Amino acid sequence: MQNNHNFYLPRTNLVGVGVIKDLPNELLPMKLGKALIVTDKNIISLGYVEQVEKILDNLFISHDIFDGILHPNPTVAFVEDGLSYCDQGVLDFTRDYSMIISMGGGSNHDCAKAIATVATNGGSIIDYEGWNKVTKPPIPLICINTTAGSGAELTMTAIIADTTRKVKMTITSPFMTPWISVNDPLFMGSMPKEVTATSGIDVASHAIEAFFATEASPTTDALCLGALEIVFEYLPRAFENGYDLEAREKMMYANFMAGSAFNSAGLGYVHALAHQLGGHYSNAHGSNNAVLMPYVLEFNAASISEPRLIKICEPLKKEAHSRSEALAVLIDSFTELALSVGLPGCLGEMGVQPGDIETMAQNALKDIVCLTNPRKGTLEDVIAIYEKAM
Ligand SMILES: [Fe+2]
Repeated sequence: MQNNHNFYLPRTNLVGVGVIKDLPNELLPMKLGKALIVTDKNIISLGYVEQVEKILDNLFISHDIFDGILHPNPTVAFVEDGLSYCDQGVLDFTRDYSMIISMGGGSNHDCAKAIATVATNGGSIIDYEGWNKVTKPPIPLICINTTAGSGAELTMTAIIADTTRKVKMTITSPFMTPWISVNDPLFMGSMPKEVTATSGIDVASHAIEAFFATEASPTTDALCLGALEIVFEYLPRAFENGYDLEAREKMMYANFMAGSAFNSAGLGYVHALAHQLGGHYSNAHGSNNAVLMPYVLEFNAASISEPRLIKICEPLKKEAHSRSEALAVLIDSFTELALSVGLPGCLGEMGVQPGDIETMAQNALKDIVCLTNPRKGTLEDVIAIYEKAM
C-alpha cells in the first residue's frame, strides 16, 4: 500500500523578531543578480521596502519595484501588469531579473509567484490553473511576509482571481515553492485590525482543514494542533493591540506552522467555497472562511473519525468525550473566536446573492483543494452548504 507523505517547504525559512538582519547572509552565497521587488503602495509607505532596498544596496544588487498590486485579491491583470511593467525597456524578463522579492501579505506573494512562473514558462497564468502544470522552475522567489497570515510566503500555491470568469484559480506546483521565506514580526505591527482578524482566522482555518485533510500525516498533525493552541490564545490579543509584539510573534509562528501543514496535507471545502466567494465578491478570504467553517465541519463530520474530532479539541482547552460533543466544541469555539475579532456571522451580511450560489458551487467543485476534503460532496451538497451559510 502506498502511503507517502512528502513534505514541502522553502529551502530556508527565517523566523523571529529582527530576523530580517539575516537575509544578507542568505542572499550572498546565492550569487543572484538584479532583483524585482513585487509589492503594493501601502507597504512602501510603511517604509518596509526601503529596509529591503538598503540590504540590496549593501550587497550591490540592483533592483526595480513593481507596486501595482491592489487588495484584497490578486488578479490575472495584476500578474500581466507586473510582467509588462518589467518588460518595458528591458524586453527580456528572465535575462534581466534573476530573483523576485515579494513583500506584503498573501496577495503580494501569490502575485509574485505567478509573475515568476509566467516569466520562465510563458503563456498566461490561466494556463497553469490546477495541480502540477508548471514545467520549468520559476525565477527564484524570496517572500518577506507582513501578515499572519495566508502561509503564502512558504507554500507552493498561488490563488489568482480571473475576473472575466469570476473565478478564483488555485495554481499549485512544487516548482512554485519560494526559495526563502521571511517571517519577522517587526513588519507586522502596523497591520490593520481587520487584516489581523481575517488573516488570523485564515490561520485557524488552515490548521483545522489540514488536520482533517486526506493527506494529513503525523508531521502535519503536530503542526496543526500547535498552531491552533497559539491562535486561540493570542489572536484576540494581537487583534486588541497590534503592537503587542509577543502576540504578533506567536501569531507569526502559528501562521508558519499552519501554512507548513496545509502545504503538504492539503485543505478542503472551506477553502474551495471561500475561493469562489472571493472570485465573485472580492470579500476578504478570512471572512469567507469564518462564515463557512461551521457548515463545512457539519458536512464533513460523518467522514472524520471520533478520535480525531476529540483530539482537535485539546488545543482549544475544552474537553469532549464523543463525536457530537467534539463537533459542538469545535464549531462553538471557532465561531466565538471569529466573532471576538469582529468577523461577520453569515454570507447575507457580506452581500452574497442567492442567484450566484449555483455557479459558485460548480466552480468550487473544480478547485483542487477539494481533492483532500475528507468527504466528497455533490453539487447539491455544496449548494446546501452555501445556503445554510446565508
Ligand atoms: Fe486560507
